[in-house]
Parts: sequence; C-alpha cells; structure tokens
Amino acid sequence: MTPKPLFLLSILPLPVLLLSILLRPGAQTQQQPPATTPATTSTTTTTTTPAATIPAAALRMVNPVKPTPQSLAHAKAIYGYDCAMCHGDNGNGHGDLAAQMKLSLPDLTKPASLQGKTDGELFYVIDNGQGAMPAENGRAKPEDMWNMVVLVRSFSQQ
Ligand code: HEC
Repeated sequence: MTPKPLFLLSILPLPVLLLSILLRPGAQTQQQPPATTPATTSTTTTTTTPAATIPAAALRMVNPVKPTPQSLAHAKAIYGYDCAMCHGDNGNGHGDLAAQMKLSLPDLTKPASLQGKTDGELFYVIDNGQGAMPAENGRAKPEDMWNMVVLVRSFSQQ
C-alpha cells in the first residue's frame, strides 16, 4: 500500500518543473515594464484629471473625525515626515524634494488651491496619491489622514 503514494510523490516534481520552465518567459516579460518605466523622472507632464479618476463615492465621503489639538498635532508630525519635503512646512509647495524633482505643486497657502475640492477628494488623494504625489497607502491611519485633510485646509487660513 505505502509504495504507491510514495511513487506518485516522486513523479510529482517533474510536471511542476516543466510548468515552471514553460511559465518562465511569460513571467519575465511581465516583470519588464515596471523595471523600465522611470516613474519619478516624469515631472510636470503627469497631469491627471482628478474628477475623472476619483470614484464618485470617494468624492462624497464626509470627514468622520472631530479634530482635537492633539490629533492635529499628530497629523502635523506625520505631515512633517511624509509631506513637508514636497509641500513645505507651511504648505507653500517649496519643499526640497519638490525642487529636486522639479515638480509643480499647488500652493496650499492660497485658498484657491483647494477651493471646490471636497474633504473626500483630499482624503482620497492623500491615501492613493495623484500624479507625482505618492500614496500614503496604509502608512498613516485613516483617522490621521482625515486630520491631515483638516491640516492642509488650515494652511490657507493663517
Ligand atoms: C513627492 C512629492 C509629494 C509628497 C511627498 C506629497 N505630495 Fe501632495 N502633491 C504633490 C503633487 C505633485 C501634487 C499635485 C498632484 C496633481 O494634481 O497632479 C500634490 C497634491 C496634493 C494635494 C492637492 C490635491 C488636489 O486634489 O488638488 C494635497 C491636499 C496634498 N498633495 C497633500 C499631501 C499630503 C497630506 C502629503 C503627505 C501625506 C503629500 N501631499 C505628500 C506632491 C507630493
């Protein structure tokens, strides 16, 4: 009885090996495009149409968070690590990295920059990125990202 399953086990690696050889060229060509697309070298040309790419449900999201001085201070700290290198400490868009990458950023100290944008839209952009802006993508908690929405709006109120 026992030799049979053992025999099956011993021939099992063969088809697996053949399959992996067959699948190899395909897998390689799939990996090539990301390696050759230099995402960071494209500068101001990466303009996307926000309204078209942001889901309607995301635009309608309402900030569920009641900001407190503490939660805003925490958001400000995260902003300092994740955002200020591009957007600048006060949101004017003159961070070092933005200059290095020759990015054109909105001046968030000007009320016009975020006028007409919903909180949901800003949350979505912070969470998912947009154009040359990288996504937070789970680095910050949703609660902190909502506080960042309040924070970036406050840049034009000082
Ligand atoms: C690599 C530089 C970079 C970093 C880091 C970055 N941004 Fe941006 N941000 C941009 C650029 C570029 C745009 C303009 C994007 C576009 O519309 O093409 C932008 C746009 C925005 C906008 C305006 C969105 C809109 O719909 O007009 C907000 C708000 C914003 N960023 C907040 C943040 C916050 C908060 C962080 C940190 C969590 C952050 N950004 C990190 C580059 C950056």
